[in-house]
Amino acid sequence: MVTPPDAHDDEHNPLTTKDGWRQFVDALAGALNALAEEKRLPCNEPRLDYHSRLVIVATLSVRNVFTTGRRLVLLNRHQISGRRGLIVTGQAGTGKTTAIAPLNRA
Ligand SMILES: Nc1ncnc2c1ncn2[C@@H]1O[C@H](COP(=O)(O)OP(=O)(O)OP(=O)(O)O)[C@@H](O)[C@H]1O
Ligand SMILES: [Mg+2]
Repeated sequence: MVTPPDAHDDEHNPLTTKDGWRQFVDALAGALNALAEEKRLPCNEPRLDYHSRLVIVATLSVRNVFTTGRRLVLLNRHQISGRRGLIVTGQAGTGKTTAIAPLNRA
């Protein structure tokens, strides 16, 4: 595991700015490259795993779909007929699938 470098100047270049982020990433890449190969290679798999699990930003729509959907899942639990459904509509690529995906785990 590579820890964030202490050298990052968070006070003048916070991570929320492009310069701060660039400084942080450069310092982190430097720390990673400074590791011997046998220590660096085992970092790759967890890193790829992390990046393939993209974060879902909890927008208002995502939260609404999730709370409504979870309520419906609970109400439908013992329903054999007359199950309640949910229709999510919106323009192409606006996050409909992303919003309903967490319901698989609810
Ligand atoms: N709340 C969010 N947080 C992070 N990424 C998001 C969010 N909403 C959408 N995205 C990203 O935007 C892209 C489009 O989202 P998604 O596929 O869910 O849209 P969609 O409405 O289902 O599209 P389509 O109409 O093609 O079915 C994806 O790359 C998704 O990861
Ligand atoms: Mg979709």
